[in-house]
Amino acid sequence: MDHFNYRDGQLFAEDVPVADIAERFGTPAYVYSRATLERHYRAYDDALAGQPHLVCYAVKANSNLAVLNVLARLGAGFDIVSAGELERVIRAGGDPGRVVFSGVGKQPWEMKRALEAGVRCFNVESDTELDRLNEIAGELGLRAPVSLRVNPDVDAGTHPYISTGLKENKFGIDIADAPRVYARAAAMANLEVIGVDCHIGSQLTSVAPFLDALDRVLALVDRLAEQGITIRHLDMGGGLGVTYDEEHPPEPAEYVEALKARLGDRKLELVLEPGRSIAANAGILLTRVEFLKCTDHHNFAIIDAAMNDLIRPALYSAWQAIIPVVPRTDTEAREWDLVGPVCETGDFLGKNRRLSLQPGDLLAVRSAGAYGFVMSSNYNTRNRPPELMVDGDRVHVVRRRETLEDQLGPESCLPE
Ligand code: LLP
Repeated sequence: MDHFNYRDGQLFAEDVPVADIAERFGTPAYVYSRATLERHYRAYDDALAGQPHLVCYAVKANSNLAVLNVLARLGAGFDIVSAGELERVIRAGGDPGRVVFSGVGKQPWEMKRALEAGVRCFNVESDTELDRLNEIAGELGLRAPVSLRVNPDVDAGTHPYISTGLKENKFGIDIADAPRVYARAAAMANLEVIGVDCHIGSQLTSVAPFLDALDRVLALVDRLAEQGITIRHLDMGGGLGVTYDEEHPPEPAEYVEALKARLGDRKLELVLEPGRSIAANAGILLTRVEFLKCTDHHNFAIIDAAMNDLIRPALYSAWQAIIPVVPRTDTEAREWDLVGPVCETGDFLGKNRRLSLQPGDLLAVRSAGAYGFVMSSNYNTRNRPPELMVDGDRVHVVRRRETLEDQLGPESCLPE
């Protein structure tokens, strides 16, 4: 459930008509709903009540400071993959002690910064990363808290680009090799082994692959106990899908219940790293129709948002709903390809969408709150859109629209 709904014949974001937002702030623009973010975070946190847990929102999904701040105020933890994301969390009022640091390529300066900030755990993805972390922690006179990200070799059944838990993927440590790597980690002077971690992919629409992974990870936890290594927390990563179209992913509560049932009375703290399921349906990309162009083959609606603003359709052939802000009844519906101004055939946000359109109409691309703005670029020297957050009947600019000066300022010509 989200807070983008029709009321009195037009689309609202919480209590604000979306058309008013376009009027005030222009298009294209990302619009987020605070109430939706909060609702989605609470769906996890409430389901986990009674179980030691930490919900670490995956910052990469939407790293706007206001988004992080809304979640930090609810006590969220954060999953980061760079020192840049750590700075965002800190600046948004998040607690570094509730941060887990994931990613296959952590650089020495990033490890140093994270150790100094006191992150809760490093999710380590290779033998060599362990060596680097041990060395840097030693230089700082600190002990680094560590989980190993194991690769349980399960098929998440999702898009190959966002499937991460198979042996052939670059992520994690082969679960068969994990006991050896744990033994090494446990013997390192400047590391403290505290957990085990896995993340098998994104946009999963059933619980089964998560449970497969969990079973394998629990078997590892038992094996490690025999080796004298006590695991205190179990991080199942993110990955729960959302409804873009006809998908019916499990609700967070259903997913969490299934995990809890498998955990039984084990004394393990459960860490989750949801991104998409918190942010995706808490945002829309608001765009306006510039021109209608009908050829013998296609009807093109040329809109003012493009692949540089939202890359998912071009990159993954992703389907996101595109709906009129003020549905019309005075124009016949046709099948439209919604294309942007960028000079690429892949520049579309939707194809074959049945809509009643006139030039100047406003459209909302739904489910754009995750992997939307964060993956945007300046391709074609386009200013990136503003990010706006609706809170009840108020609209806050949480990132202003870029200007050409923002883009050109850091560049220079060669000297004379
Ligand atoms: N934890 C780790 C270690 C991850 O790699 C990811 C996402 C998450 C958590 C959050 O997963 P989520 O709950 O959002 O599924 N750009 C792609 C998605 C890439 C996901 C990368 N990793 C897309 O637009 O579909």
